[in-house]
Amino acid sequence: MTSAREITYKPTRSRDLVPAARVVRLALNNLRQGTGKKLIRRPIRKPPPFVVHLFKSNPELCYCAWHGRKIVGFGLAVVRGEQWYLSDLFVHPKYQDCKIGKQLMDRVWRDAPGMSHALCTFGYNMQAIGIYSRYGMAVLESLILMAAKAEHFKRPKPTGLTVVSKISKADMAWIHAQESHIRGYSHEAEWKYWLANKNYRLRVYKEGNKRVGYCLTTVDGIFGPAGAISNRYLVRVIQEYLAAVEFKKDTVARTFCPTNNTSLYHLLLSCGFRLREMTVFMSDKRYGDMQRYLPADLSVF
Ligand SMILES: CC(C)(COP(=O)(O)OP(=O)(O)OC[C@H]1O[C@@H](n2cnc3c(N)ncnc32)[C@H](O)[C@@H]1OP(=O)(O)O)[C@@H](O)C(=O)NCCC(=O)NCCS
Repeated sequence: MTSAREITYKPTRSRDLVPAARVVRLALNNLRQGTGKKLIRRPIRKPPPFVVHLFKSNPELCYCAWHGRKIVGFGLAVVRGEQWYLSDLFVHPKYQDCKIGKQLMDRVWRDAPGMSHALCTFGYNMQAIGIYSRYGMAVLESLILMAAKAEHFKRPKPTGLTVVSKISKADMAWIHAQESHIRGYSHEAEWKYWLANKNYRLRVYKEGNKRVGYCLTTVDGIFGPAGAISNRYLVRVIQEYLAAVEFKKDTVARTFCPTNNTSLYHLLLSCGFRLREMTVFMSDKRYGDMQRYLPADLSVF
């Protein structure tokens, strides 16, 4: 077993992001193998663009653990407003259980009066849930990764909501205001990234002249974040999106559904979505209204 003294911790540099991404994938695949899931095999030749965005938005909250010249652990957090959020914490499988995860947590952790702390992690990894519990966070919600292959997808009926695809500044200001209520803080840095990237599409949904919800989607079938002025409208927004969507062949539609949102959960099941993976939202403060919010990529929630 590697001794704690042989491990050093350094702030991450841009050039560390590719080897760090390989450690993340190794740790993920180790976990997937142990729980009977398919391994992720795509090669990593450049840093994942969204990780680069998160890293650049606050490089001081990103650390690597090193054993000699090898990266063996990676931790990345973001602070948005008064909310600290852990985006990534991964340790090379051969180096796990040596307190590297805790050491990385200590370095990326930030606290201040009024600050809340949250993250999403795998519902089946008791070690990860255990570490985060030590920092005061507890499981508040379960989110199931739900997916529908084209051949299983059952298109729902249109809802009558109108769709706006040309997003104005006023639409964006409305989304930021909604997100402050429904998820506790707005996502402005992420929205800038998403809107500047051609792989993402944002739609605002209206009933008459009134904005009632929004939904971000990616070209490869992921939808979320989505939000709405009420639970009923969130379900209608997702139904409207699914009623009109054209998936390319081999695309798998995916989203992280909060299971407490039973109406949304049942809509997805009725559209042919299957349960893929259980993840959990942990926090030291109750925030976000999962009846009106469908989270994004869980590295930002
Ligand atoms: C989760 C992970 C980052 C932890 O890193 P690590 O270096 O292996 O963990 P550490 O040795 O620092 O953690 C040990 C701590 O885990 C906690 N722990 C472990 N199992 C636990 C359990 N069943 N219940 C409660 N706490 C537990 C304890 O607090 C323990 O510290 P202590 O013995 O001083 O109390 C790492 O194992 C990993 O990469 N796993 C796979 C990927 C993953 O799940 N990442 C989290 C994604 S957000």
